[in-house]
Amino acid sequence: MRFIIEAAPIAALASLCAGQNSSTIPSEVPLYGDSPPVYPSPVGNGTSNEAWASSYSRARALVRQMTLEEKANITRGYTGKCVGNSGAIPRLDIPPLCFADAPDGIRGQEFVSAFPAGIHVAATFDRDLMYRYGHALGAEYRGKGINVALGPVAGPLGRVARGGRNWEGLSADPYLAGIGMGAITKGIQDTGVISTPKHWLLNEQEFRRRESDLGDAVSSNVDDRTIHELYAFPFANAFREGAACTMCSYQKANNSYGCQNSKLLNGLLKTEFGFEGFVVSDWGAHHSGVASANAGLDMVMPDGGYWGKNLTEAVNNGSVSTERIDDMATRILASWYQLKQDENFPAVGVYSNTVKHQPIEVQDDHPELIREIGSAGTVLVKNVNNTLPLHNPKFLSVYGYDATVKSTPWQNPSRFGGGYEVNFGWNTLNGTMITGGGSGSNTPSYVISPFHAISDRIAKNRGTIRWDFESENPYPPYVNSEACLVFVNAYASESFDRTTLTDEFSDNLIQNVAANCTNTIVVIHSAGIRTVDTWISHPNITAVLFAGLPGQESGNSLVDILYGDVAPSGKLPYTIAKQEGDYGALLNSSVSFDYFPQDDFEEGLYIDYRAFDKNNIEPRFEFGFGLTYTTFEYADLSISPIANGTAEYPNPDVAIVQGGHPQLWEAVLTVTANITNTGNLTAAEVAQLYVGIPDAPVRQLRGFDKVYIDPGKSVTASFTLARRDLSVWDVVSQQWRLQRGSYEVWVGASSRDLRLNGTFTVG
Ligand SMILES: *[C@@H]1O[C@H](CO)[C@@H](O)[C@H](O)[C@H]1NC(C)=O
Ligand SMILES: *[C@@H]1O[C@H](CO)[C@@H](O)[C@H](O)[C@H]1NC(C)=O
Ligand SMILES: *[C@@H]1O[C@H](CO)[C@@H](O)[C@H](O)[C@H]1NC(C)=O
Ligand SMILES: *[C@@H]1O[C@H](CO)[C@@H](O)[C@H](O)[C@H]1NC(C)=O
Ligand SMILES: *[C@@H]1O[C@H](CO)[C@@H](O)[C@H](O)[C@H]1NC(C)=O
Ligand SMILES: *[C@@H]1O[C@H](CO)[C@@H](O)[C@H](O)[C@H]1NC(C)=O
Ligand SMILES: *[C@@H]1O[C@H](CO)[C@@H](O)[C@H](O)[C@H]1NC(C)=O
Ligand SMILES: *[C@@H]1O[C@H](CO)[C@@H](O)[C@H](O)[C@H]1NC(C)=O
Ligand SMILES: *[C@@H]1O[C@H](CO)[C@@H](O)[C@H](O)[C@H]1NC(C)=O
Ligand SMILES: *[C@@H]1O[C@H](CO)[C@@H](O)[C@H](O)[C@H]1NC(C)=O
Ligand SMILES: *[C@@H]1O[C@H](CO)[C@@H](O)[C@H](O)[C@H]1NC(C)=O
Ligand SMILES: *[C@@H]1O[C@H](CO)[C@@H](O)[C@H](O)[C@H]1NC(C)=O
Repeated sequence: MRFIIEAAPIAALASLCAGQNSSTIPSEVPLYGDSPPVYPSPVGNGTSNEAWASSYSRARALVRQMTLEEKANITRGYTGKCVGNSGAIPRLDIPPLCFADAPDGIRGQEFVSAFPAGIHVAATFDRDLMYRYGHALGAEYRGKGINVALGPVAGPLGRVARGGRNWEGLSADPYLAGIGMGAITKGIQDTGVISTPKHWLLNEQEFRRRESDLGDAVSSNVDDRTIHELYAFPFANAFREGAACTMCSYQKANNSYGCQNSKLLNGLLKTEFGFEGFVVSDWGAHHSGVASANAGLDMVMPDGGYWGKNLTEAVNNGSVSTERIDDMATRILASWYQLKQDENFPAVGVYSNTVKHQPIEVQDDHPELIREIGSAGTVLVKNVNNTLPLHNPKFLSVYGYDATVKSTPWQNPSRFGGGYEVNFGWNTLNGTMITGGGSGSNTPSYVISPFHAISDRIAKNRGTIRWDFESENPYPPYVNSEACLVFVNAYASESFDRTTLTDEFSDNLIQNVAANCTNTIVVIHSAGIRTVDTWISHPNITAVLFAGLPGQESGNSLVDILYGDVAPSGKLPYTIAKQEGDYGALLNSSVSFDYFPQDDFEEGLYIDYRAFDKNNIEPRFEFGFGLTYTTFEYADLSISPIANGTAEYPNPDVAIVQGGHPQLWEAVLTVTANITNTGNLTAAEVAQLYVGIPDAPVRQLRGFDKVYIDPGKSVTASFTLARRDLSVWDVVSQQWRLQRGSYEVWVGASSRDLRLNGTFTVG
């Protein structure tokens, strides 16, 4: 029955199957999505490059010495010190691998850093900062002896405006997300830590993401082209940079569970993307023994799931081939060798709070980087008459629950022991928000709140500050106050989707302050989209900053912007609508109480700005928008196709390597533009390149260049586009294809502030 698990080539043992009791299955089951079977599972062979070849040959040698029980042992999890611990083989000195959350800093430990969340990093549009972010994260994981970092995130991508985990990922745009996924993966792995791009794939909502009393998990039903051009697209960059692990997802994809979906694992991942590493299940995402093994899963977490002894039995009776279990073990060990974790990898240094221990401090100079990314990802969306930067104000008033840390931030000591529900993110409703909640949350060693950092500046200036963090209708500002800063936030977490993109308390607070203060500056810390139309046009609201999820240096990052030490340069990584209804069917997650809930991605490629462009809906602030303290002029668009780039398809005789066909990554077009800083202070501009590919969305981001420009000076922004960036996924030929015809090119300051345009033809 295809709606349970797709047919495996070898009959599954009944005892190994996690399929439902057939008599409980309702007879009327909608069958929109249908995931095609792809078997057998490709055997990893390390042909991507010499390093992988060598890692594979060493792994094969080790696997040859292993018994069947030993091979099965390293494919499963055990309870231990870490969030995940793979089975060890003491006889062969193979250690357990330690797995840990989160994508924005190690969760549940001391002396670690709370980095900005993925969505904040994306808002920087800065490749260098993305790489340095990954590298600093990796260094902390390595310092604690953690082998596998469970990030970065491109699933969810951000299809659903109110999605609970969108902030863990980078952006609703697959190109921007892809650049981040590649850079962060490279950064992490350059420290010798395995990176785990997740969640593979189509994990776009929290509601019914897992099976429950209501029935099975939701099925994301998505067509082949959309899978390629939107959802798998950013993962490709991470694989291209060598990601040695990926995590399969909880929900179903086209009615087959993510961790036993042969199309996604054997097909897309291990064939098309030539993945050499191993696939680990999300925690508890195992739904079958034989079916998951044959569909391409390589490791189950956090325990044995349906494997363990059952897997050895399945190999013994032929339900799972010896080649498959050898491939699982080889992929795991090859990844371990590939990251050189067999040489001098630090001992596991994670602890529960009940054990007194010598702290292992891994923060190094990361606070400086965190502060820099915090500023670089802060987006200025309103700034009337140069309200910002502030000019050494002597008297400021500060309002709102989000300005300061909570008075009792550490309510439950178990948070230090890796507690899930009790980490920082879950408890910020009344305090400043530096990240979101759930397993993607982090555990700051300290927090510099906005109030703390503003107080420091006021103190240095022998000024005065007044505050009210509690009231929805604060005392009127003191008459001498030069500006009233109002801090609000919009929280989101794993496990539930948001129910609103705004909230009445915060909106009332802002309007009450504005009613009494002609210079009201609003700062929003938000885990994604936050609508602002209730008050955005208020004449007394003179400046508005989207300060994202900036991590532990929050206040310092913000003050650098407020006081003009750093000019804002962040750009929105999503679209802010005028009203929530403008997101249409993509506002909420799919809410179905059916036993087999179906979520049809009928919009195809049209999410976020692609949908607003298609439907001619004017957003409040469009994707890519962000102001700064100076102005820029764009000129001299130059478009240079590379002569050999016009073959319709990549050469089929060239072997696939990890990341996909190598020619997909070859440059086929360069574009340049001349950008001049026409104001009077140094600032960075994120020049953005959008392409109108024939028979594709109106325009899609396919390049960006963040350029720092002194006043009166010009810089050439340049964009190099790869074959993939100009191709569509041809569902008939099952290949990426360059379109014949005229492509439109725009370069500008946002997805709607398009300053230059031109065309080129592929023919
Ligand atoms: C299947 O479900 C039916 C109805 O709930 C129950 O009577 C039967 O025992 C179940 N069979 C198995 C094998 O669990
Ligand atoms: C290695 O695996 C890839 C992907 O499965 C395949 O295309 C290639 O032919 C294999 N190479 C060898 C030498 O087996
Ligand atoms: C399997 O892994 C566990 C946990 O690391 C370890 O204690 C056990 O010795 C391993 N079994 C074998 C057969 O090596
Ligand atoms: C093996 O299968 C049985 C059901 O036959 C199940 O109860 C058990 O949890 C499975 N897993 C392991 C690790 O033995
Ligand atoms: C901005 O400044 C101009 C010129 O001083 C003034 O006319 C205008 O009213 C100001 N706008 C606001 C919203 O304060
Ligand atoms: C602050 O926390 C209290 C309970 O501690 C809660 O009732 C209230 O709604 C919270 N306020 C905001 C603005 O979230
Ligand atoms: C702006 O603030 C001033 C000073 O408090 C107040 O008189 C005025 O009514 C406010 N404007 C609006 C539109 O609320
Ligand atoms: C503050 O604004 C409120 C309206 O929200 C108004 O009733 C009150 O008079 C204002 N106070 C001052 C001092 O302007
Ligand atoms: C195109 O030219 C570049 C640079 O000379 C070369 O590296 C690449 O292999 C060529 N690509 C194709 C598809 O021929
Ligand atoms: C860029 O534009 C500026 C202003 O129009 C001009 O002065 C400068 O020569 C241009 N630079 C280049 C490299 O074209
Ligand atoms: C610099 O720019 C600011 C903001 O645009 C403006 O207020 C100021 O007058 C300018 N100064 C000079 C010297 O041009
Ligand atoms: C650029 O845009 C303008 C206005 O939208 C349009 O008239 C013109 O044809 C475009 N130029 C090119 C080369 O596409």
